[in-house]
Amino acid sequence: MVEDKDIQKLKGFREFLPGEMRARRKVFDALRKVARKYGFREITTPSLEPMDLFLVKSGEELVEQTYSFEDKGGRDVTMIPEETPTRARMVKENKDLTKPIKWFSESKFWRYESTQKGRLREFYQFNYDIFGEESVEADAEILAVAAEILKELDLDDSADIRLNDRKMLEGILSTYGIENFKEVLQVIDDKEKMTDKEFLDKLVESGLKKEDAEIVDEITSLKGSFDEVIPELEDLVPDSEESQEAFRRLVDLRDRLESYGIIDNFVIDLSIIRGLAYYTGMVFEIFDTEGDLRALCGGGRYDDLIETLGGEETPAVGFAPGDAVLELLMKREGVWPDEKVETDVYVLNVSESVRRESLDIAERLRNKGLNVETDLSGRNFGNQMDYANKINASKLIIVGERDLEKEKVTVKDMDSGDEEKVSLSDIERFFQG
Ligand code: HAM
Repeated sequence: MVEDKDIQKLKGFREFLPGEMRARRKVFDALRKVARKYGFREITTPSLEPMDLFLVKSGEELVEQTYSFEDKGGRDVTMIPEETPTRARMVKENKDLTKPIKWFSESKFWRYESTQKGRLREFYQFNYDIFGEESVEADAEILAVAAEILKELDLDDSADIRLNDRKMLEGILSTYGIENFKEVLQVIDDKEKMTDKEFLDKLVESGLKKEDAEIVDEITSLKGSFDEVIPELEDLVPDSEESQEAFRRLVDLRDRLESYGIIDNFVIDLSIIRGLAYYTGMVFEIFDTEGDLRALCGGGRYDDLIETLGGEETPAVGFAPGDAVLELLMKREGVWPDEKVETDVYVLNVSESVRRESLDIAERLRNKGLNVETDLSGRNFGNQMDYANKINASKLIIVGERDLEKEKVTVKDMDSGDEEKVSLSDIERFFQG
């Protein structure tokens, strides 16, 4: 028996009341609208997966943060901390899908992180990925979707898309003889959260000589618009085929982003590396321009993951915005939707004797797609009026015996207070006009 005590919800988990949910639904609908515009099709994935799926390539940090346990059948399972490995498994298993495969989803994820502003233990992401296409066009389309999301949410002046290429950075570092990429990249990934001194110390701890740590610091400080950074990269990128190819893609990408008219949203930033282990090329994150929030969004190209899981060679590129930081930024910028419930119509029955007519009117309007409430509790006129105000009804239909004798009702506009008589036979037309 559980003792009767004050049981609180868990830290890092949220619940949403109807007003909050209405605001969130507007934001989520905008993210859905962008997906549809670019031809991404919706999928749904399991919440629980075999733990091994995340051991393959998500990276140690993420795996340590999972909610993992042994289920009753003795299997090691994990509450999904991200969707990319699941999607890779789905692509591997469904060989006949028409390519390019373009998927989006709205899902919940779980990570046992230390909770802080914008970092929770349960959160939502919208994932957008393109599978089966290695061209720079696919990278550009993914980035266009990211830019369109910022525009759709009125955030294009408050956030930057910060872009890099892992292969190019590795190439540059290798010309300085820096080869222990895994450890070094991990430190670079945390650069944003550290002071300069901490960054240098961590690089030395990861095995670099002090001079090399300083070189890494200098290289990863390179940032600016495509046109500012590309000439500098020309001198830095080594001649190896792989590095040159990565650099050429970046130059091509610049042209495509210009064609999309979104080049101003981008900053090349050589410190963007991404914590997840599966990225193989272009990587990006979206940050607020004031720099006081965590990343809103992260993604990149991951051409090996499906093969690593035992599937056919399938290039892939994608990203995911998370709801928590989006909400913080939208609130800060004053563009978060109103957290108020909405109702189109409240049908007020003046007396019990007209309940049947009131229900009939409510049903007729519901059948026309309006959102309609009517009395459930036998409340008097004043209390029904209070309720209609509390649910922010736009219009009130007052159903009274005297009006009904003339086949009419009174319709009140709740904003202006104006009232008018409307014939019963005209009600649908009145509300649709
Ligand atoms: P990620 O960078 O781990 O990437 O997460 C993407 C976004 O999800 C983050 O930028 C952040 O907004 C949100 N997010 C992550 N962790 C938390 C948390 N603990 N609390 C609140 N929000 C969080 C991925 O997950 C990749 N699978 C994205 C991807 C899709 N790459 C290719 N396709």
